[in-house]
Amino acid sequence: MLDALAAAARALTYAGILTAAGAVFAQASLWQSVPANDPSRRHVRNGALLVIGAVLGGTFVLIFRLGGQFNEPILSAVFASGTGAALLFQLAGAALLLAPAAADDATSPIRLSNAALLTGSLAINGHAASAGLLPGILAFIHVSAAAWWVGSLLLLRAACRDSDPAAVADLVKRFSGLALKVIAALATAGLILLLALVDVAHSPWLTTYGQVIAMKLVLVAVVLALASYNRWRLSPRLYEGDRAAVPELRRMVDRELVVIGAILAVTAILTTFTAPESSEEQLSRVDRPTGAACQCVGTDYAERAAG
Ligand code: HEM
Repeated sequence: MLDALAAAARALTYAGILTAAGAVFAQASLWQSVPANDPSRRHVRNGALLVIGAVLGGTFVLIFRLGGQFNEPILSAVFASGTGAALLFQLAGAALLLAPAAADDATSPIRLSNAALLTGSLAINGHAASAGLLPGILAFIHVSAAAWWVGSLLLLRAACRDSDPAAVADLVKRFSGLALKVIAALATAGLILLLALVDVAHSPWLTTYGQVIAMKLVLVAVVLALASYNRWRLSPRLYEGDRAAVPELRRMVDRELVVIGAILAVTAILTTFTAPESSEEQLSRVDRPTGAACQCVGTDYAERAAG
């Protein structure tokens, strides 16, 4: 039960981070076409609130997974660790994005760095961080690109609802110009990260980690197929002024967001319950914990410290 709650809190943290940071990145890069009522402010606020709620909930769940005592060893294992540093980045990034002054300038470097605190939080804790600096940087690029994608889809969805077809076509043109590069960066960083984490010489697809990542890759193929349909079939109709293409685009964006939600849930399972072979080996060499609190070898490195 606590394990399931931990994975759920992590999936919600991912959703909040990608929504809040993604809205900032998308707003900054697609700004000229953003509708007058600026839906990205709402996305930033909702995403930041979700991050705060999910992170606090996840921290309590972690403390209970470690035995539920608020004593010094447990608290220092949680807070004086990579988990604690990521927590600080997430709470600070979300709080700064919620500050009223932060919403004024879409392209302000301060606002962009506040959003980067959120995506960076996933690069300083977890499998990538424990594998070294380069995997950490790759994780940052991977998550930031994923955030841009989610933020842009949310912006497109709002435009389909509120804007006229010409404005939607204009936004889609800007989005398409960037999407190919950003999604290529997302996939390339993800694949190199995977190669850095798993030992390809030792049948990684036979491990639980390999099987969960295979599930993720199937979902990624589905979302890429939906995105390709939008780009090659739907967008030309929008550019030609076909009004019926607008509600269809909105439905397709909804489907893409649902599949991305499933990708985040699978990623949360991957990072909560499994570990690439190399980290398991590292763990068994260093300090594999024993006892009920540490049966899984996920990214809760606080568990190892407390074990
Ligand atoms: C070619 C496609 C992709 C590959 C190969 C890939 C691979 C990976 C790998 C290897 C990790 C590190 C997992 C770990 O720490 O053990 C990761 C993390 C992550 N991925 Fe992907 N991924 C892909 C697509 C996506 C997509 C489309 C999204 C969402 C839109 C996404 C969201 C994330 C998130 C949020 C994390 C952060 C995990 C963390 O450090 O806590 N990925 N991905």
